[in-house]
Amino acid sequence: MRGNADVRTTGYGTEPPLQRFLASCHQEFKSDNSGELADYIPELKRANPAHFGISLVTIDGHVYEVGDSAAPFTIQSVSKAFVFALALDLVGEARVASAIGVEPSGEAFNSIRLTNDNKPFNPMVNAGAIACSGLIHEVDGRAAFERIRDKLGQFAGRELDVDDAVHASETATGNRNRAIAWLLRNYLVLQDGVDAVLDIYFRQCAILVTARDLAVMAATLANRGVNPVTGVQVVTPHVVARTLSVMTSSGMYDYAGEWIYRVGMPAKSGVGGGIVAALPSQLGLGTFSPLLDGHFNSVRGLKVCEALSARFDLHML
Ligand code: DON
Repeated sequence: MRGNADVRTTGYGTEPPLQRFLASCHQEFKSDNSGELADYIPELKRANPAHFGISLVTIDGHVYEVGDSAAPFTIQSVSKAFVFALALDLVGEARVASAIGVEPSGEAFNSIRLTNDNKPFNPMVNAGAIACSGLIHEVDGRAAFERIRDKLGQFAGRELDVDDAVHASETATGNRNRAIAWLLRNYLVLQDGVDAVLDIYFRQCAILVTARDLAVMAATLANRGVNPVTGVQVVTPHVVARTLSVMTSSGMYDYAGEWIYRVGMPAKSGVGGGIVAALPSQLGLGTFSPLLDGHFNSVRGLKVCEALSARFDLHML
């Protein structure tokens, strides 16, 4: 880390300043009960609003964690960044660009609006993520979901499971995404059947992760595609650069400008309460707290990222 002499373990039984700072953030922000659980996917209402975990992984594989960093929750939209990376890897940049733009939409994650040439604005909003799932389905057909689960597992450094109840809940209620997918099918952004593609998308959103998993996944992006814990090259540095670019411009939806201004790290949030942030060549951060603000970003997660960025001068600019 920048100016990092003081963040390493100093020995003599004392906690490193970074660990102490994460603990103090956890202590300070856990009493903030503002925000709401996502309820448009009914099963997400069953989350424990008190859950709060933070993990930070450096690119040399050092793991820091506080609170409920091992509590599982569904990855939801955080998957979009990693599935975009997979799509770039699998079908190449030109094919991805023919289907999905890279402009911030300035709109909510579930906006049905497309660009003037009838493409999703970017891969971080639902329309773009559904298009990404479609690209992977074009290559893999019914095996597409296993490809996604396997790749996300490589990013996390362990095999990841699916929350079947959340998957079923979104399948039963996800008519807005169904409408978006039919629009994409109309414009031939989706070339395969809507139901098959949406099932991949809903399933990828229901993959279970922990804050620690998210930190390792982010650290893999920060480390030019090499998982710093397992040493596996998960994607190429070129794919990482493209992925971090869209995370920078669009990862936090209609809060993306404010986020990059205040925190200054490429990031992605999800309605399960997760946030990943990656500081290239330095670290990955994963937070989990399911209480969300009006942009559907985790309230406590935003506070942690802002405080950490300010304290350790992590803004990339
Ligand atoms: O498609 C959806 O609406 C959810 N499966 C994911 C949305 C999401 O996580 C938005 N993030 N803040």
